Amino acid sequence: MPSYAVSSRAGLIDQERRAAVADLLTTLHRDIAVAPRYLVQVIFNDLDAGALFLAGREAPEGHVWIHADIRSGRTAQQKTDLLEQITSKVADVLELPPEHVWVYVNEIPGENMTEYGKLLPEPGKEEEWFATLPQSLQEELSDLR
Ligand code: LAC
Repeated sequence: MPSYAVSSRAGLIDQERRAAVADLLTTLHRDIAVAPRYLVQVIFNDLDAGALFLAGREAPEGHVWIHADIRSGRTAQQKTDLLEQITSKVADVLELPPEHVWVYVNEIPGENMTEYGKLLPEPGKEEEWFATLPQSLQEELSDLR
């Protein structure tokens, strides 16, 4: 599963804004959830106008839904900060009202995810985990923290 899946109507988020949103989500996750940037994936799902419903009716343009799958072990305050900052800062980047940006954080134990071919550690144990990666991968990732 991706870490962050951003769904919206096709055409709403152009490539330049995709890059800005991806950088924003990666930075917020690194700073608030305290994880290296190389663990954060962002996937954009462009949906047909007829594929989005709200209150049982086709949703109006300009809504964004962000589903995050993160490792469990963060505090309630970290999750509140992630939810609030993602909502307001993504709204700023996309020039949408914050009430049009809906964010969901799902928690999965690290042992229920693999990234880079390995089960993930609990938050806070990334350095020990990193040391178990092949040397060539460590070199590739070391600039991406
Ligand atoms: C995290 C990513 C790996 O929670 O899901 O840091």
